[in-house]
Amino acid sequence: MDKQADVIIVGGGLAALQLARHLRSTFHVIILTKTTIRQSNSYFAQGGIAAVIDQEDSVHSHVEDTLKAGRYHHFTEEVQRLAGEGAEAVKELIAGGFLIDREADGRPSLGLEGAHSARRIIHSGGDATGRQTIEYLLERMPPNVEIIEGEMAYECLLSTDRSVCLGVKTKNRQGVIHRYYAPHVVLATGGAGTMYPFTSNEPTLTGDGVAIAFRAGAEVADMEFVQFHPTLLFIDGTTKGLISEAVRGAGGRLVDGSGSYLMDGIHPLKDLAPRHIMAFEIYQARAAGKAVFLDIRSIKQFEKKFPTITALCERNDVSISKGLIPVAPGSHFLMGGISIDTDGRTTVPGLYAIGETAHSGVHGANRLASNSLLEGLVFGRRLAAFLNGYGGGIRTKRNIVYRYLKQLDDSSLTDLSKRELQKRMIEASGIIRTGEGLRQHIRYLEAKGLPEWMTAGMDLLSFDDIELVHLHINSYLTSRAALLRQESRGAHIRADFCKEEENWQGRRIVQTVDGTEIRGGQHERNPIGIHA
Ligand code: SIN
Repeated sequence: MDKQADVIIVGGGLAALQLARHLRSTFHVIILTKTTIRQSNSYFAQGGIAAVIDQEDSVHSHVEDTLKAGRYHHFTEEVQRLAGEGAEAVKELIAGGFLIDREADGRPSLGLEGAHSARRIIHSGGDATGRQTIEYLLERMPPNVEIIEGEMAYECLLSTDRSVCLGVKTKNRQGVIHRYYAPHVVLATGGAGTMYPFTSNEPTLTGDGVAIAFRAGAEVADMEFVQFHPTLLFIDGTTKGLISEAVRGAGGRLVDGSGSYLMDGIHPLKDLAPRHIMAFEIYQARAAGKAVFLDIRSIKQFEKKFPTITALCERNDVSISKGLIPVAPGSHFLMGGISIDTDGRTTVPGLYAIGETAHSGVHGANRLASNSLLEGLVFGRRLAAFLNGYGGGIRTKRNIVYRYLKQLDDSSLTDLSKRELQKRMIEASGIIRTGEGLRQHIRYLEAKGLPEWMTAGMDLLSFDDIELVHLHINSYLTSRAALLRQESRGAHIRADFCKEEENWQGRRIVQTVDGTEIRGGQHERNPIGIHA
């Protein structure tokens, strides 16, 4: 079955819904999600939304905190726009009836999180802000938006000269392929957290957007920057879910098995230091054989403030009243992704990206806490404004080419294992990296069939195998970039290049199917776009 729309959005998280809701009502909009509309990282997000809504706070301070946490590897103008438009987008939500948590006197209850110099995190329903925001947007979704669940987009449909994106192919769990055509195809599929064995991400987060866009010829950038969240609940050698940074904002402190505070003497912000510093310390402590706990004994009314975390702990037999939650770091957020310009355009005309799957330059080398839901709100709204004013008209499906000559099938994927990939990723391309480890991992991936797979077709693969190939492509892009960046910056930590190097600041590793380039330098502006 083929279908035509004005805008196709792949993914059903916050950025996707915010875009859909702001698109003009004359557009036929199709949202494609591979599971259900209530299963996304956004839906389960415990953190809040960082936004300057307090008179004592300033956009300037939010920008400074974002730049500092991301080690000045941003597109600075994009950060300024994020903070400024973010405040407006949040005020728009509140004015529209979105219920935020408030103090007894009615003032917004603003939380503090790591590396923020002011209380500026808004929450809704305590630690259920993601769910509340998605439900708010779904309730207001206009009738021109059609939501199709259970179909995974896996390939762009390209024009005969392979230069323009005209649609996407999807597959469902029964193996049925559908084709969707639109002049505007937006990828909003989130990150690739499941490349690693420990992750805060939903199991569906397999880097689909990056893999689809890359295979269609788009540029991807900054893939080496993967954020590890310091505190995931850690039980019997596995992680079970996130323990929000808001818990440390409310007074939670990291202790080791003997009760010593882990962050004392490490960073002036102690337990609210940037995430890469916290994750590194916990990783080191655990590697030295120490157990690490989040001590929540000083937090009054924990159960009331953090109902989702309380339920998570109870499900895993961790007693809140004893006050010690066992934690370990896990992959959380991809700062890199598909290169976009300020409106969300990728380097392939007709193809757009927003949210975590995109590289917009707002997160630098390490995202500031609670800036991700904010990014979704801002870029969803901004891309809608761009498309609403677009004069390009409807493209038809006439000039489609099936780009890929070779088709991958089961026999091309011998011995691929997600578990093996995850193990290798945490060892070679995880919290601490070395050139030798990365080279070995890249050789392993090449022996499995990469980079040939990057340009092969996937029609013959099952749903699960496509996800597995997407993960391998993301792993390859991450590890190649991590090998090339010979410094430590933000979330990218190299044991063999321990320091931040000035000559690497603002330089980006940009990858396409045709090759890799190191581009830019300090104070670079967003260099891509302009191909309407
Ligand atoms: C958290 O609540 O700690 C996660 C929120 C975020 O990553 O911004």
